[in-house]
Amino acid sequence: MTGIALMGAGRMARVHAASIAEAGAHVATIYDPVDAAARALAATAGARVCASAAEAMGDSAADAIMIATSSDTHVTLLLEAVRTGKPILCEKPLASSFEEARGFVAEVGEEAARRIFLGFNRRFDRGHASLREAVKAGRIGRLEQLIITSRDPYPPPLEYIPRSGGLFRDMMIHDFDMARSIVGRDIVSVTAHGSSVVDPEIGRLGDVDTASVTMLADDGTIITILNSRRSAFGYDQRIEAFGALGMVLSDNPRQSGFRRFTAEDPGTDAPILEFFMERYGPSYTAEIRSFIACASEGREMPVNAVDGLMAIWLAEAATISLKEGRTVRLTRPEDGF
Ligand SMILES: NC(=O)c1ccc[n+]([C@@H]2O[C@H](COP(=O)([O-])OP(=O)(O)OC[C@H]3O[C@@H](n4cnc5c(N)ncnc54)[C@H](O)[C@@H]3O)[C@@H](O)[C@H]2O)c1
Repeated sequence: MTGIALMGAGRMARVHAASIAEAGAHVATIYDPVDAAARALAATAGARVCASAAEAMGDSAADAIMIATSSDTHVTLLLEAVRTGKPILCEKPLASSFEEARGFVAEVGEEAARRIFLGFNRRFDRGHASLREAVKAGRIGRLEQLIITSRDPYPPPLEYIPRSGGLFRDMMIHDFDMARSIVGRDIVSVTAHGSSVVDPEIGRLGDVDTASVTMLADDGTIITILNSRRSAFGYDQRIEAFGALGMVLSDNPRQSGFRRFTAEDPGTDAPILEFFMERYGPSYTAEIRSFIACASEGREMPVNAVDGLMAIWLAEAATISLKEGRTVRLTRPEDGF
């Protein structure tokens, strides 16, 4: 499998196009309604610009499809992509709302949904993956507490806030998926708190910029997720898993191994990484390699549209919890809230 039909020519499409080339495949066709963006990316990737998504997906030079478009277009494009029968990778989130995601999985069926790769790239981060493997291998005994910290260096432009879907669906969605992948148990309750202490304007636009969510798994494991839209010292991404026999930590990588020791400053490390492109760059490439390998061998995708539905279900529960000031109890996505 070598030729990819790429939907979208924005920021993530450019990242994926570079990873596709690194993985030894190539972008065969591109579609983006912003023609200039499509042409610019096609020129660097050596791809053919198409006049519609259907044309790009249907081209015989494309054996697989990647959707890296704005979140509100994912389900429409996914339905079109499913009809081609080709392997699909779609960026997170699966849909722009829980109802839309649930409707999509119900329409295509769970088996087909498990064959769609969902872009939760952090699963492929080496530090986070090592932590997950250590927990699964029982290195810390029974997992009791999981703490995920995820803070952006600075907030997005204010005009992005109303169309982001809110912090839980837009930003914390990665952490919900990460929590599920590490804990491996059903989540039975979600309690959220949120405020807009970074920028009150974000609050006036109906969102929060600072949030914590506590979730209880069915075996008693407690998961805490902390998010902020601002961190004075860089992109703060850490996971701590605490168990009966000890603790494992996936810490912030540093920009370099440089450290300073002087009388005034008895030990300063190089700064942490600036934002997601630097921090998670290698994970995007690993994700694309995994997709291509699974698609070539006809395997089920290791992170898929069912995971996408579960993450957006937790995001919805957190949104309801914050709005209604209560703990939301969960059974199954089919049952709603
Ligand atoms: N995994 C990650 O770490 C990560 C990081 C950032 C963004 N994302 C996700 O990636 C997706 C794209 O985000 P982005 O930052 O690249 O946005 P972007 O705005 O830079 O690019 C989106 C592109 O999609 C195009 N587009 C819109 N409708 C289309 C359609 N029907 N067909 C084809 N193209 C269409 C737009 O014209 C635009 O060029 C979003 O769903 C976002 O949530 C994921």
